[in-house]
Amino acid sequence: MSVIGIVSMKGGVGKTSVTANLAAAMSTKLGPGRVSVVDLDPQNALHWHFGLEDPQTEGVCRQSLRGEDWSGVALTNEFDVVCLPYGMASESDREAFETLLADEPDWIGEQIRRTGLDNDSVVLIDTPPGSSVYLKQAFACADLVLIVLLADAGSYATIPAMESWLDEMSVLYPRLRSVYVLNQVDRSDSFNRDVADLLQQHLGDRLAPIGIHCDEAVSEALAFQQPVLAYDPHGQASHDLARLAAWMIDTLNR
Ligand SMILES: Nc1ncnc2c1ncn2[C@@H]1O[C@H](COP(=O)(O)OP(=O)(O)OP(=O)(O)O)[C@@H](O)[C@H]1O
Ligand SMILES: [Mg+2]
Repeated sequence: MSVIGIVSMKGGVGKTSVTANLAAAMSTKLGPGRVSVVDLDPQNALHWHFGLEDPQTEGVCRQSLRGEDWSGVALTNEFDVVCLPYGMASESDREAFETLLADEPDWIGEQIRRTGLDNDSVVLIDTPPGSSVYLKQAFACADLVLIVLLADAGSYATIPAMESWLDEMSVLYPRLRSVYVLNQVDRSDSFNRDVADLLQQHLGDRLAPIGIHCDEAVSEALAFQQPVLAYDPHGQASHDLARLAAWMIDTLNR
């Protein structure tokens, strides 16, 4: 089993969209039931991408507080991705869960291992922006961390903070690998293109060779509660995500 943490220091860069859409793309390559997603963001939005809109969704937050196995809150869907939502949670549930996570640094890793997934399955974890107990937990159990960036000044400015996290985490978890990925690439916009080129120079081979283009089908797919690969299979973003999925699988196997 391989675990991929999807992270960023800045909000709104596309972590949740990348988690859902990359999972769907990886699932088409690895086969049904091989790819799971875990929502570690109290926004509880990840399951929407798979058409699972029940407002009363139970999820990993309250299931963990009850001390019960996560398989009890796993949702299946027509897109062949097993989805573990954060779930409905009151403010006190969230606080209690975050205290639990602060006290048990590998709690999430342990719960994932307890679900008994096959060796060749992949788990993608969505996280909230910036430093948090969720980010720490994702780093603690991930084989690979995928850092989502936009080609803008805001994302560029967060790189030193992320690098400092990576330095700290690589001492604790020496086998952890990390890679940056550019989202919402728009080569027709000169500023976007210049920042993308600057990031390429700055990060070198630490930037994934495939970026995800800015494509309105990504937002539209969410409105229709589908991964973009199902909503617009021949579009630019779907094409990018399929290539990124193949590259990620290859990278995990290296
Ligand atoms: N490649 C893309 N092309 C066009 N729009 C995109 C793309 N990726 C993400 N978006 C849009 O950007 C917005 C933010 O995406 P998303 O919610 O996935 O970001 P996030 O990093 O998870 O945010 P948060 O930090 O709040 O968790 C959404 O409206 C989404 O549809
Ligand atoms: Mg998000």
